Amino acid sequence: MKKYNFNLKKTTDGSYTLYSDEMQESYHSVNGAVQESNFIFIDRALAIIPGQKISVFEAGFGTGLNALLTYNFAVEHKKYITYNSIEAYPVKPELYSKLEYYNYCNNLNSNDFMSLHECEWNRPVTIKDKTFILNKINSDLTYFAFPKEQYDVVFFDAFSPDKQPEMWTEKLFQKIFKSLVNGGILITYCAKGEVRRRMQRSGFTVERIPGPPGKREILRATKMLTSGSQIHTFDKH
Ligand SMILES: C[S@@+](CC[C@H](N)C(=O)[O-])C[C@H]1O[C@@H](n2cnc3c(N)ncnc32)[C@H](O)[C@@H]1O
Repeated sequence: MKKYNFNLKKTTDGSYTLYSDEMQESYHSVNGAVQESNFIFIDRALAIIPGQKISVFEAGFGTGLNALLTYNFAVEHKKYITYNSIEAYPVKPELYSKLEYYNYCNNLNSNDFMSLHECEWNRPVTIKDKTFILNKINSDLTYFAFPKEQYDVVFFDAFSPDKQPEMWTEKLFQKIFKSLVNGGILITYCAKGEVRRRMQRSGFTVERIPGPPGKREILRATKMLTSGSQIHTFDKH
């Protein structure tokens, strides 16, 4: 991807996102950044994962908003979350400090937002006891060597398929499928038919579910293996 300049933009719920005039793309919905992230990634995916220990993978750390909301969820629900997030173009301190200043912190915890950004990359860092371990990976998703059957949930938060088609390939969805535990979920804001079909061809069972304000539908893909399909999927690996 070419490198674009992003600036702060206020969204309808009062929270800010980053927007590039040149790319004509934002990090979150302009109908409400915090509202969208909470609705899609927390309420429709993270909250339905059973158990106390949860392993998350995020495509695109970006502003750290999804990480912050997940952190808050872990504290509130007494979960132990390991949050792995890949980012090829980390947001610069001048921009994430403005986000902290302008808001992700009105009702979200500002000290912890900064520690998510300021902690070291490429190693797991304990942010709050065992409650939240953050592993920021400074790398390119399209080359990432996914571990096998490790994640309970994948937040697929890449730029849109029109702007970054290389992030929405069947090959990548196949790798993600293998990286999830059985019953694991891949969630994304995108509801395009071709994206849904690529997920289905990669082995996922895909639901179109109602989206947040401004978005009719989103996609939730589940890895549902029966014993027969398990043999089929993993026999060569
Ligand atoms: C829609 S934004 C993510 C928003 C983010 N989840 C948040 O809460 O702010 C997409 C992110 O993917 C990152 N990105 C773009 N190409 C990438 C690549 N090839 N590998 C990893 N990250 C990439 C961008 O820099 C951007 O931060």
